[in-house]
Amino acid sequence: MTSTITVLGAGYVGLSTAALLAQAGFKIHLVEPNPTRLDTIKQGRSFFFEAGLDPIIKLGIDSGNLLPTDSYEASVPESDFVFSCVGTPDNPDGSSNLSYVYGAAETALRLMQPNAVYIQKSTVPVGTGKVIIDKFDVEPGRYVGSIASSAVAPTKQCSLVS
Ligand SMILES: NC(=O)c1ccc[n+]([C@@H]2O[C@H](COP(=O)([O-])OP(=O)(O)OC[C@H]3O[C@@H](n4cnc5c(N)ncnc54)[C@H](O)[C@@H]3O)[C@@H](O)[C@H]2O)c1
Repeated sequence: MTSTITVLGAGYVGLSTAALLAQAGFKIHLVEPNPTRLDTIKQGRSFFFEAGLDPIIKLGIDSGNLLPTDSYEASVPESDFVFSCVGTPDNPDGSSNLSYVYGAAETALRLMQPNAVYIQKSTVPVGTGKVIIDKFDVEPGRYVGSIASSAVAPTKQCSLVS
C-alpha cells in the first residue's frame, strides 16, 4: 500500500520535498499557514524559481497526489510519515529560532497515529529530536527521526530537479 505523507511547511525545502514525493506516487498533504504561499501552490505553481519545479507541482495538483492545506487535523492523522520542514530563522545572537520547530512538533505529535514516523528535516542543532521527545512526551512507537539532507533536499549549491 502506498504511504501517505504530511509535509509541514511549504517553504523552499518543504514545497520541493512534497512535490517530488508526489511525483514519486505518494499521497502528500502539504501544510502551510501562509495563505499567499498556499494559494500559489494550489494554482500549481511555486512561489520561488527552481528550474523544472512548476510542472511537477502542477502534475501533483492535477493528479490529486499533492494536497495543499492549512489544516493539521485534515492531514496528520492519516499520515504514515510527517516531515517537518518549517523555518528556523536566526535569532539576534546568531542561534536558531526553534519556536516554529517546536510549535509544529507539538501540534503534529498530538494528532499522529501511533506508529507514524516524525522526521525533523529542518536544519536544527544536534539534540533537538531528544528535546522534542522530552518536551512533548512522545509515546513508545512514535519514532522521532532526523535526516540532515536527502536527494530531494534543495541546497544553495545545486539544482533540485535536474
Ligand atoms: N532553503 C534552503 O535552500 C535550505 C537548504 C538547507 C536547509 N534548509 C533548512 O530547511 C529549513 C526550512 O528552510 P526553508 O528555506 O524551506 O524555510 P522557509 O522559511 O522558506 O519555509 C518555512 C515554511 O514553514 C511555514 N511554517 C511556519 N510555521 C509552521 C507550522 N507550525 N506548520 C507548518 N508550516 C509552518 C512558513 O509559513 C514557511 O512557509 C530551515 O531549517 C533551513 O535552515 C534550507
